[in-house]
Amino acid sequence: MEIFRRPGEMQAWADAQRAAGRRIGLVPTMGYLHEGHVSLVRIARERGCDRVAATIFVNPTQFGPGEDYERYPRDEERDLAMLRAAGAAAVYLPGVRDVYPEGYQTFVEVAEVSRGLCGDSRPALFRGVATVVAKLFHVGKPHVAVFGEKDYQQLAVIRRMVRDLDLDVEIVAAPTVREADGLAMSSRNQYLEGEDRKAARCLSRGLFLARNLFLEGERDPTRIASAARAVVEAETRATLEYAEARDPETLGPLRGPSDRMTILVAARVGPARLIDNITLQGGEAT
Ligand code: PAJ
Repeated sequence: MEIFRRPGEMQAWADAQRAAGRRIGLVPTMGYLHEGHVSLVRIARERGCDRVAATIFVNPTQFGPGEDYERYPRDEERDLAMLRAAGAAAVYLPGVRDVYPEGYQTFVEVAEVSRGLCGDSRPALFRGVATVVAKLFHVGKPHVAVFGEKDYQQLAVIRRMVRDLDLDVEIVAAPTVREADGLAMSSRNQYLEGEDRKAARCLSRGLFLARNLFLEGERDPTRIASAARAVVEAETRATLEYAEARDPETLGPLRGPSDRMTILVAARVGPARLIDNITLQGGEAT
């Protein structure tokens, strides 16, 4: 597994893969990897990528003031061992100055889909995400890039950016990998201890209740979202931020009953801000 820390080195690797006719898959991450991240590497390979590159970069521009940029967990050695075991061919691990050199002033803004939901409480988030992902695409030159549905609004922002900027990258969505008790895996679960860890299950419990209602035939998005919201609100250690039913494609509000909807929840539990979602459609739920 090759490790690159400078954009030029990574681009030279990507150019060589393309010249040899190989299909490149890219898996952007902020490190402190877990099984969810590893699944993205596997999915890239299943999607016919000959070489999969991962990136590890805790991106300062997507954190707001007072958020967890400084304390975001980091463990480079462990991450590299996991990527090696997963069969990644290359890892791009730039420093902050490699991505944002002195005088940096260019940003990508995806307007509408960045608003609402997580965009309300974290106004810097999606501008930072879109900017860094656009840059990572220019450095890793992938044919395919894999992102988790766990960060559903982020996925929608990236899809919109790719369409709007004519980026020649196929975006693949990967299902959310969960702990045995339902909690969606996240690097931020590291912040949860003892009772908070148990309380964190309220997000997935709310979503699974929503799924059951849907499977029983309920199609009213307001009623389904309210049921999920009530589960989170009943957990005294959790502070609900939002629980909403939205259109799975546009993330716009739904007017009236629907056979397709995504339920998205965000809540604080102790020191952690957690998000989760589930998409309900036809007779199934993912
Ligand atoms: P990070 O939180 O490290 O997540 C990296 C990728 O892993 C994202 O595509 C995310 O959706 C996916 N992921 C996280 N938890 C998952 C889970 N439980 N199951 C499946 N996939 C999961 O998201 C970011 O980093 C950053 O915003 C980034 C896109 C790298 C830009 O800085």
